[in-house]
Order: sequence, then structure tokens, then C-alpha cells
Amino acid sequence: MRNPSKLIVGHQEFKVAELTNNQLVYDFPMVLRFLEYRGKQLFGKKFRLHEADYGLIYDLVNYFIGDIDHCRAKGMDLEKGILLTGPVGCGKTALMKLMRYLVPHKPQYEVIPCRNVVFAFNHLGYKTIEDFGNKKHYCFDDLGVEPDGRHYAADCNVMGELLISRFELMQNERRITHLTTNLSASELEKRYGDRVRSRMREMFNLVAFSEDARDKRR
Ligand SMILES: Nc1ncnc2c1ncn2[C@@H]1O[C@H](COP(=O)(O)OP(=O)(O)O)[C@@H](O)[C@H]1O
Ligand SMILES: [Mg+2]
Repeated sequence: MRNPSKLIVGHQEFKVAELTNNQLVYDFPMVLRFLEYRGKQLFGKKFRLHEADYGLIYDLVNYFIGDIDHCRAKGMDLEKGILLTGPVGCGKTALMKLMRYLVPHKPQYEVIPCRNVVFAFNHLGYKTIEDFGNKKHYCFDDLGVEPDGRHYAADCNVMGELLISRFELMQNERRITHLTTNLSASELEKRYGDRVRSRMREMFNLVAFSEDARDKRR
């Protein structure tokens, strides 16, 4: 296994952590430099981390590196996933894609648009829910923008059903699911119902951009 305290991007090396008493102690300013550099590579040179988002990024970083003390203080549970909410364009998808590179030594998750899950369902039916209810980790991206599923004559709230499967997987096999969404708690409840919403409360640590977080597309 590569040494996760030194992250290499092209010719650049970022010493994001120090190994002390067999524990990785992360250097947050260096983590920011790494994330920004990697982000530019992934999303283009206009990518930069905004100071207004540092608090949220700090929470995400601490969650992903598994800093137990920070997470406890913030009421975050490492057995649960992240529910990242915020207005359109604030950078949710980018951050969830980026965080994986900070912890290459940890189990990786795939980022899958919820729309794609529904398209797969329309094509393949309930097998899709089984397939994504597997033992991998996922981040389902942009919950709430997907259409309802329809396979032959059967309508299905695909993401709702899938989240219930993923909930069981969390309980039985400790598999983690992350989500991003623009919807508020009440909008989620309206769309997916009380059954899904109450499981979501147990499945996720809520990390929220503020309502007026900047649209990074502009
Ligand atoms: N911190 C950032 N700085 C500059 N551009 C960004 C930043 N975060 C995201 N972007 C870009 O802005 C656009 C919207 O980001 P995205 O992550 O898709 O937002 P969201 O998922 O919240 O709707 C994308 O083109 C993305 O590459
Ligand atoms: Mg998005």
C-alpha cells in the first residue's frame, strides 16, 4: 500500500499528514493545497476552494480521514454516510468526487448520478436495485432530479427503493452510502415519503452548504 501521508499528483508531492505513533495526523492547510491542485486537474484551472466553504470542507475532510474526535464533536458518525446538500452549482458533486483522492488507502466509492440509476432501471427493471444494493460504497449524485422509474407497466420510485436497500446494507454489512441533493428535508419527505426519510436520518450525516452558497458556474 502506498504511503497515504504523501500524495503525488504528476510531479507534485503533497505531504498531507505526518505519521506519529502509528497515526496519521493531517495538516489541514496542506490538505487544502492538495485538494485545490487535484481539483484543478479534475475540473479545470478555474477550480479553487472558496474561503466561505472552508468550514464545510473541514468537516468533510475530517469525516473522510476518520478523525474520531472532530466527528464526535460535530455529531458525525463514521458508520454513516454523508448527505451533502446545497443549492445548484455550489460544488457538491465536485467535492464528493474530489474527497476520494485524499484517502486513496480507504475503501473507494463510485459517484453515480441518480438519473443514471433510473435509466438503468427503465431498461433492466428491479435487477438495477439489486445491483446497486451490492456491497460496494456509492455516492448517489443529485437525488431529486431523477424522473420516476418505469419498467414496462410498472412504476417505481427507484431511488426510494434503492435507499431502503442501502439502509439494510448499512445495518447488516456496514456498507456506506453517500448522497448529494438540492432538496430540503421537507422536499425529500414529500418526494420519497416518510418511510425513506426516516431511514435517511439514520443513514446520513448532514453536511449543508448555506442557502446563499455561491454558484461556482458563474
Ligand atoms: N470550488 C470550485 N471552484 C470553481 N469551480 C467549481 C468549484 N466547485 C465546482 N466547480 C464547477 O462549478 C460547476 C458546478 O459544480 P458542481 O459540483 O457540479 O455543483 P453541484 O453539484 O452543487 O450542482 C462545475 O462545472 C464544477 O466543475
Ligand atoms: Mg451536482
